Amino acid sequence: MAILKIETLGSEVLRRRADEVEVVADDPETARLIEDMFETMYDAHGIGLAAPQVGISRRLIVVHVNEEDEKPFALFNPRVVEAGKAKEKGEEGCLSIPNVSALVERPAEVVVEGVDPKGNTVRIEADGMLARCLQHEIDHLDGILFLDRLSPLKRNMILKKYRKQES
Ligand code: NI
Repeated sequence: MAILKIETLGSEVLRRRADEVEVVADDPETARLIEDMFETMYDAHGIGLAAPQVGISRRLIVVHVNEEDEKPFALFNPRVVEAGKAKEKGEEGCLSIPNVSALVERPAEVVVEGVDPKGNTVRIEADGMLARCLQHEIDHLDGILFLDRLSPLKRNMILKKYRKQES
């Protein structure tokens, strides 16, 4: 296991559309990547991490929302197949834009489909923090950051705050 370097705002890989993954069940190299992504995420106190955030432009996310009975899981090629009409605002941060956060509006309920590490298709009906986290991580696979979901005014405020604490 290893803690990987987390790419931060300005890194090109965060803005690229990540490649689809052909999932080979129990591939040892992929299993190691998933383990390393979990270790990196826990080390940074995150609840989700997308492969582009560790410099790998592939459609893979790991998620562990620490509430109720949510278990950690890895998902390949995840996509939102249904989104509820109701939207919800919630506080979001991102390990690639450390120490800033903002209220982001997203559909409150989504259905996500993807492939698990064994190659099985999975369908997740999510609400609350899990729905938010899944949407945030899937955005990463399309080169989208939570900043892009804010009004220009709010985005500039967050960027200013971020740059101030970075310098
Ligand atoms: Ni993020």
